[in-house]
Amino acid sequence: MSSSATSEKDSSSGARPATYRFECIGCASVTPSPANDFRCPHCGNLLEITDPAWKAPHGNPESLKSLWRERRLLNRPVDLSGVWRFRELLPAPSSEHLIVTLREGNTPLYELPRSSRSTGIAKLYAKHQGMNPTGSFKDTGMTVAATLARQAGFAWVACASTGNTSASMAAYAARAGMRSLVLVPEGKISWSKLSQALDYGALTCQLRTDFDGCLRLLQELVKRAPVYQLNSINPFRIEGQKTAAIELLEQFDWEPPDHIIVPGGNLGNSSAIGKALLEMHNLGLISRLPKLSVIQAEGANALVRTLRETGGKRLVSVQAETRATAIRIGNPASWQKAVRVLQATGGSCEEVSEAEIAEAKAEIGAEGIGCEPASAVTLAGLKKLLRHGFVKAGETVVLILTGNLLKDPDFTIEFHRGEIPGKEANDRNKELDSFRHPPVVLDATLDAVMQALERAEKSTPVSNAISNESET
Ligand code: F0G
Repeated sequence: MSSSATSEKDSSSGARPATYRFECIGCASVTPSPANDFRCPHCGNLLEITDPAWKAPHGNPESLKSLWRERRLLNRPVDLSGVWRFRELLPAPSSEHLIVTLREGNTPLYELPRSSRSTGIAKLYAKHQGMNPTGSFKDTGMTVAATLARQAGFAWVACASTGNTSASMAAYAARAGMRSLVLVPEGKISWSKLSQALDYGALTCQLRTDFDGCLRLLQELVKRAPVYQLNSINPFRIEGQKTAAIELLEQFDWEPPDHIIVPGGNLGNSSAIGKALLEMHNLGLISRLPKLSVIQAEGANALVRTLRETGGKRLVSVQAETRATAIRIGNPASWQKAVRVLQATGGSCEEVSEAEIAEAKAEIGAEGIGCEPASAVTLAGLKKLLRHGFVKAGETVVLILTGNLLKDPDFTIEFHRGEIPGKEANDRNKELDSFRHPPVVLDATLDAVMQALERAEKSTPVSNAISNESET
């Protein structure tokens, strides 16, 4: 029941021999085959995958870029996947036939013309990871970790989740013929995420605790039962999530943006994107590093406080509370990895209020794109970073939108009905009303609909029409 790397070469599939290893981020000791808890056997810290083979063929980054581009024309599942297309920088399974893929990745990079106007940043983009098969960025990591779970022969996979990890894990487990166990905080995840886990056939346990309590319990469970842990403590997840950054740079023709902004919860995603940036820079795929910044909700601001109060040396845990339930996390597992990449890229860390999240989410909706509340912290955070002078109007900025609009319909409906962010915040910020479009109930008559049309025309001028869209 180990998850060790295999050294066999499968010549029929063209898979590479595995040369990756697990390195502790605390004491730097190397573990060839970690235990089920994916912790360093010496100091208990998290592990990270490194591989001396991750270097450009013949030292030429251009040939790697061409190889990845050419694969976009091929029709094999492994090439259609926007994760495995970049397999030279991933831990490879012993055979490509083991790969569990739902054709994840390949997500769009959108321009944000409305938000460009409101922020004054001409070159503002959103990389929408919510356009993945189960509606969140988790799929990019899950395809890699589920593949390695299948290779290791596990019958059960498991995760603690605020909803998206569980939806993704349940889907990939179903595809691979594995059983899945989901631990979620009762009443604290959206129905749409819960319903995904149910439909994909997971054993779904709603625990009377928060996310941090679910994760603690899971870490005990994996020491006792032969279940494979699929939280982002699992370093294979981080490897797959690197590809969002690789694909983003490819979409920019390898000309790095100045800033990449991500939401922060358990801090696996920021760690993954930062790791990818550093690896791409080392390999000569990019000539300079974008600054990676992490944004948290004010009520779940463990990283903000960790940096502010200890300079990133000691975790400051918090009792998390926010309506952006995906990032309602107070004790982030990957905080040290996140601190490291933030410092290495010169990024920043900010917190935003519930009202700022609601407004930013509505703005992204008004772009015709939409996202879930946790993703909207990126736009809200950008506005703060601009005010503080950390981001400048002439710079190129990419927001990583992590989850689909359809992930949290309750939040969206409550916002349009005027119930979010709450009476006091509503009174303070009347501008929010211009984003609200509550449904109207009418008699089923032509007159009633015509009158509604006239009322809408008077109250909302169409001055915000998007004119020059040119998505990449
Ligand atoms: N955005 C969304 C939509 C998420 O679902 C999450 C995390 C994050 C941002 C934060 O990413 O944890 O890597 O810093 N969701 C996890 C889950 C915790 O269980 O679905 P992170």
